[in-house]
Amino acid sequence: MAERLEIVFAPLAAHWSAATALLVTQGLGLAGTGKDANQRSGGALERAAGAADFTGKPKSTIELLAPPKLDCQRLVLVGVGKPDELKDNDWTSLGGTAFGQLASRKGEAASLVAEVAGIAGAKAGAEIAADLALGALLRSYRFRKYQTRPGANGEGEPPPSTLARLTVHCQDPDAAESAFERRRAVAGGVFLARDLVNEPANVLGPVEFAERAAALTRASLEVEVLDVDAMAALKMAALLGVGQGSVRPSRLVVMQWHGAKGKRAKPLCFVGKGVVFDTGGISIKPAAGMEDMKGDMGGAACVTGLMLALAERKSPVHAVGLIGLVENMPSGSAQRPGDIVTSMSGQTIEVLNTDAEGRLVLADMLWYAQERFKPRLIVDLATLTGAIMVALGKEYAGLFANDDKLAADLAEAGEATGERVWRMPLAKAYDKLIDSKNADMKNIGGRFGGAITAAQFLQRFIRNTPWAHLDVAGVAMDSNRTDTSQGWASGWGVRLLDRMVADKYERSDK
Ligand code: BES
Ligand code: MN
Ligand code: ZN
Repeated sequence: MAERLEIVFAPLAAHWSAATALLVTQGLGLAGTGKDANQRSGGALERAAGAADFTGKPKSTIELLAPPKLDCQRLVLVGVGKPDELKDNDWTSLGGTAFGQLASRKGEAASLVAEVAGIAGAKAGAEIAADLALGALLRSYRFRKYQTRPGANGEGEPPPSTLARLTVHCQDPDAAESAFERRRAVAGGVFLARDLVNEPANVLGPVEFAERAAALTRASLEVEVLDVDAMAALKMAALLGVGQGSVRPSRLVVMQWHGAKGKRAKPLCFVGKGVVFDTGGISIKPAAGMEDMKGDMGGAACVTGLMLALAERKSPVHAVGLIGLVENMPSGSAQRPGDIVTSMSGQTIEVLNTDAEGRLVLADMLWYAQERFKPRLIVDLATLTGAIMVALGKEYAGLFANDDKLAADLAEAGEATGERVWRMPLAKAYDKLIDSKNADMKNIGGRFGGAITAAQFLQRFIRNTPWAHLDVAGVAMDSNRTDTSQGWASGWGVRLLDRMVADKYERSDK
C-alpha cells in the first residue's frame, strides 16, 4: 500500500472498482444503485444475502465473488443496522469496517458506495460519505517503516494490503469532498500521533521528538524549543530531575496556533507527558513488557497531532500545545529515591519513587503554562498510571477535572468521537495522601487509588484555571484494535480534543 490511502469522491452512477462495498440497512435493505445492481445480476445479491443469513445487522459483512453482470469482481455487503439510530462516529466505524473487508484481498483500487436506504438529502449524504471516508482512512494506517522485506508483515498481522485508492460514490461528490477536508486534516493529526508513539525510543529521543515538532512550522504553527539551560533558568527542577540520568538532554516544546481573529484571545492550552522511554529510573521496572514504555510519550504525541490538525483545518482559535520531553534512565547521574527537588512553583517534592516521573514533568509544565499564557483552560494528557487501567481497562480514559463544564464538554466529545472518558474523583482526603514528612509533598500516594493520587499531585500545580487531566495509559499505547485503529498506537485524543474545540470554542470568537 502507498504511504497514505488516496480518497476520491465520485457520483453514484460512476463505474465501480474491481472491489466494491455496498451498505445494507436492516429492514430497508439496499439503496438505489445497489437495488439496480441486484436487478442487473438477476437477484444474485439478495440470494447471497439469504444464503448467508445476512440481514444488515450493524457491521456484519458478506462477500460475493464474481457476481454476474456487474462491473466488479468482488462485492462486499456491509450491514448498517437501523440508519436513524446511527451517530457520526458509527458511520466512521462503518467506514473502517468496509475498508477492512475491501483491503483483505489483492487490488490497488476499491469503491465504497455511500448510499443508504432510508436516508434522503444531499447534505446528509455528503456528511455520511465524509464520515465513512474518514473511517476508511483511519483504518488504513499501518506502521511498516522497519519491515524491509516486501510482502512480509508483523507477527500475527494480516498480509499487507495493496489497496492504494478508495473511491467513495455519493450523490454530491463536491459537497462530500468539502465535508471531508476538515476530516482529512484531523486524520493527518491522528497519523502523526500514531507515528510518534510507534517510533522506537532509539530513534525518537527528546531531541528528535522536538525536531519533529519544530518541523510543524511548515503547517504555520509557531514552535519554540527550550533546551536544558532554558529550563534551568526557569527553575524547572522537577522536570529536569527526571531527565538527568539520561545522556540525551531534555526538551520542552511550545507550539502555538494563532487562528483566532481577536489577537488577545486567551489560549486553550494542551499539555502532554513526553517520556520517550520510561525505564522507571533507579526504581527500575521489571523486564517483562518494558518495551512498551517507548509509548510513554502518548500524551505529547496527541498534543502534537492535535496542533497539526487544528492548523491544517485552520481552526479559528488560539491554541497552545506544550510537550515535556525527557528520558527516564537509571545511571550514575540519575535521580535517587529520597531526593527532594524544588519545582518551578516553589513547592518542594520528595521523590520517593523515580518511576512516578510523569507527574514531576507535568508539575513544571502546568505551572509554566499558567504563568506564561494565562490560559482559558488547560487539558493535560499523560500515560500516567497503571492504576487507571486497573480501574477502567482499555476502553475509557480517566478524566479528572476541577471544572464541571469542561468535564461535561470532554465527555460529550468523547461520545461523539468514540474516544470515551470516565470522570474520576478529586477530593481533599486523597490529597492528604501525598503529604510528605520531609517536603511539601511526595510523588507517590499509598497502595490504593493510584490514578487519583497522581491527579491530586497535578492539581497542586493548578491555580484558578479550569483544568482537566486525562490519564491515557490504557488507550494511547498498547491499545485495543477497533474499526478505525489496528492497534498499539491509536492516536487517541486527537479526534476527541479536535471535536471539543470545534463544538465549544469555535462558534463565538471570545
Ligand atoms: N508510564 C508509567 C505508567 C504506565 C504504566 C503507562 C503502564 C502505561 C502502561 C508511569 O510513569 C509509572 O510508572 N507509574 C507508576 C506509578 C507508581 C510508581 C506510583 C505505576 O503506575 O506503576
Ligand atoms: Mn514511570
Ligand atoms: Zn511513565
